[in-house]
Amino acid sequence: MTTLSTEWWRAMGLAAPIVNAPMGGVAGGALAAAVSRAGGLGMVGIGSAGCALVLDEQLGHLRELDRPFGIGLVDWVIASEPQLLTAAIAANPALLSVSFGEDFSWVRRAHDAGIAAATQVGDLRAAARAVEAGCDVVIARGAEGGGHGEPTVGTLPLLAAILDHLSVPVLAAGGVSSGRALAAVLAAGASGAWLGTAFCACTETLLSDKARRALLAAQDTDTVSTRVFDIAQRYPWPATFPERVLRNRFTDRWHGHEQELSAEPHAQQALAAAIAADDHRLAPINAGQGVAMLRTVRPAAEVIDQLCAEAAHLVLGAVITVAARAARRDLQIRAMAMLEAHDGGLGGSARERRSAERMWPAVVAIEQLAYRTLAACWAMERGGGGVSAPEGGLSLFGPSGVARFTTLLDELSTAIQTGSAPPRLDQLPPFGAAEITTVRDSLVREIY
Ligand SMILES: Cc1cc2nc3c(=O)[nH]c(=O)nc-3n(C[C@H](O)[C@H](O)[C@H](O)COP(=O)(O)O)c2cc1C
Repeated sequence: MTTLSTEWWRAMGLAAPIVNAPMGGVAGGALAAAVSRAGGLGMVGIGSAGCALVLDEQLGHLRELDRPFGIGLVDWVIASEPQLLTAAIAANPALLSVSFGEDFSWVRRAHDAGIAAATQVGDLRAAARAVEAGCDVVIARGAEGGGHGEPTVGTLPLLAAILDHLSVPVLAAGGVSSGRALAAVLAAGASGAWLGTAFCACTETLLSDKARRALLAAQDTDTVSTRVFDIAQRYPWPATFPERVLRNRFTDRWHGHEQELSAEPHAQQALAAAIAADDHRLAPINAGQGVAMLRTVRPAAEVIDQLCAEAAHLVLGAVITVAARAARRDLQIRAMAMLEAHDGGLGGSARERRSAERMWPAVVAIEQLAYRTLAACWAMERGGGGVSAPEGGLSLFGPSGVARFTTLLDELSTAIQTGSAPPRLDQLPPFGAAEITTVRDSLVREIY
């Protein structure tokens, strides 16, 4: 399990900052249970063709689950089947999302039942409306995302704008299918990531093997955001919410010719037959631009472990580098001061000697602080293990201490970068007075 976590995530009782997006026809109870067991938040998705009966069936997979889970619904679907919302609330999820609509009356009902409310938004104005309506968390769903959504703003600019302007926890969605993308959105300030496409090829989804193979074969340019499948299936999706799908013969023929399609019964019948036959030359497969990152069919827990491990390496690596550089520079400056004090102590006046003595405790304190920073960074990366400063400090400073700490920092930096064992402090090389000049010269070069 990863050490990667955020405040909102811990408050939700979760270990990994990942939600599987509620994906109608894909994210059923089995996927939700697997994601929740792996430390994320598993969501059951009920999409265009869903109903209370389907929800009940899928919830059957969660009966034994002792972890939080969520349910995600679609605005116009609950408007046409209110029983679905009632059933979702009765199931007592930790998180309820209703997306793609303007009616937020469900938020109060969720809150009355002690359930956190979430919705997907495609721009800053929609985010502000959602917060005003009482949503506890908003999902910044960028244009590159799979399935339905407003394809106006990309994930990173949308996430940045919402984080800059609103103080509600934000989950990032759209194109987050790699450890790098997860690291990017967490580093930007997201409280977690809402992943759809990344889970589509998992063993626990409701998709057929044929559909999984099509996903694995897809490239990043193989998706298109279109309304053709909704028009041909007569789903009442608002025109502002097309869906991103894998391009196929149907999209090649009809995308851009929507009016013609709506008056073309043969095309509609051919599509219905292809869907029944699981023939993806015509039938839709929802997927975002991150589809090219899918490599194998595997369990959701493996996807979560890999994404979190990669993201942790990147995020913590950046923190460590910055902290190590800052600590090193700080120590170099202190060392210069110490060297000057040392020189003063050796051959200077009585005033200089007193100054050197006064300075000593401060130098040692700073040295310990800097070392502890590095040790903490190290321990963080190693998941809680790592080095600890010996009782009472390291006493690296002294007339011969400068080279020791320089060597130590070099070795620590190398150890952090390569993942090897940290240096043993008692094995650091001794340092002679003759080297003071060399060290001081190199410090002068680095500092000034
Ligand atoms: C196969 C699939 C089905 C989806 N179905 C739904 C759905 O039923 N309800 C919903 O709120 N969002 C749905 N979405 C959209 C996701 O909630 C989310 O916005 C999207 O997956 C994020 O982008 P990504 O696919 O690049 O991770 C679906 C997405 C996919 C890929």
